[in-house]
Amino acid sequence: MAVVTLENVKKVYPLGKQKVEAVKGISFKIEKGEFAAISGPSGSGKSTLLNMVGLIDLPSDGRIIIDGIDVYDGFDLGSTLLEADRLNNYVEKKDKASQKIKNTIPNKLDRRITALRRSHLGFIFQTFNLIPVLNVYENIEFPLLLESKDKSLACPVDSFTRKQKEEWIHFLMDKVGLSEWEKHKPSELSGGQRQRVAIARALVTKAPVILADEPTANLDSVNSAQILSLMKDLNRDPDLQTTFIFSTHDKRIVDMCDHVVHIFDGLVKQDEYKTGSDVYGTAE
Ligand SMILES: Nc1ncnc2c1ncn2[C@@H]1O[C@H](COP(=O)(O)OP(=O)(O)OP(=O)(O)O)[C@@H](O)[C@H]1O
Ligand SMILES: [Mg+2]
Repeated sequence: MAVVTLENVKKVYPLGKQKVEAVKGISFKIEKGEFAAISGPSGSGKSTLLNMVGLIDLPSDGRIIIDGIDVYDGFDLGSTLLEADRLNNYVEKKDKASQKIKNTIPNKLDRRITALRRSHLGFIFQTFNLIPVLNVYENIEFPLLLESKDKSLACPVDSFTRKQKEEWIHFLMDKVGLSEWEKHKPSELSGGQRQRVAIARALVTKAPVILADEPTANLDSVNSAQILSLMKDLNRDPDLQTTFIFSTHDKRIVDMCDHVVHIFDGLVKQDEYKTGSDVYGTAE
């Protein structure tokens, strides 16, 4: 079964009185266990698409189905966005950033999205986004502290005992090669090590899908090769069975993927299935 399905997804950004159509009607499926990439030139809509798959950004139209759950079913995206826009404008004038976030989408949809993000989606950002005051162990543990209120969307780790959670975090630290760095803060780690923490944190809830927006953009080629090889190992690990979806214009990542959705100017140019290489090649 597909773990991510997009049907005719569109994204229009308001830009003053004009509109930017960043994504113009995109459909594709990602099956469980794929090592997949959304690839295309700068400005083609990769990050916009990945943010919509990750439920960070709302589509303007279309359907997004995550592991059989039709995320926006029962909600009118058009009027939700209009309302969000109205509230944003209103709140921005009053400069109340927290209220802006709270008011942006209806509570019921907000709860569904928050729960789904936690139970089904892990994120790896190009700037790592670790919490500076927490050490490696605590950064990895962090998503487990945000327990879902919606029990139907709880993650498998929520039912672990404290000891089992500790063992699971140690297992992940070992997987990403950071066992000896447990007590260190992000500022004491290299870029590659920080990205390893981010990978372990993305895996900690046992989310079936891990999303990574240009994961090697801030790494040199040696660290990029190590990070990609680690992600490929995790993808193949029968205990984890994690699906990876990258947004990238790095040909070396694209070459490693077994499914590549090539996009151009907000549309799918080619939906390609192939055998991905095991190695992150050298730059030409
Ligand atoms: N918040 C926004 N408001 C207005 N326009 C936006 C916004 N975010 C993105 N866009 C526009 O949408 C289009 C797609 O942007 P996006 O960031 O998804 O491209 P990308 O493929 O990820 O590019 P890159 O490879 O440079 O990261 C661009 O034309 C961009 O200017
Ligand atoms: Mg981008």
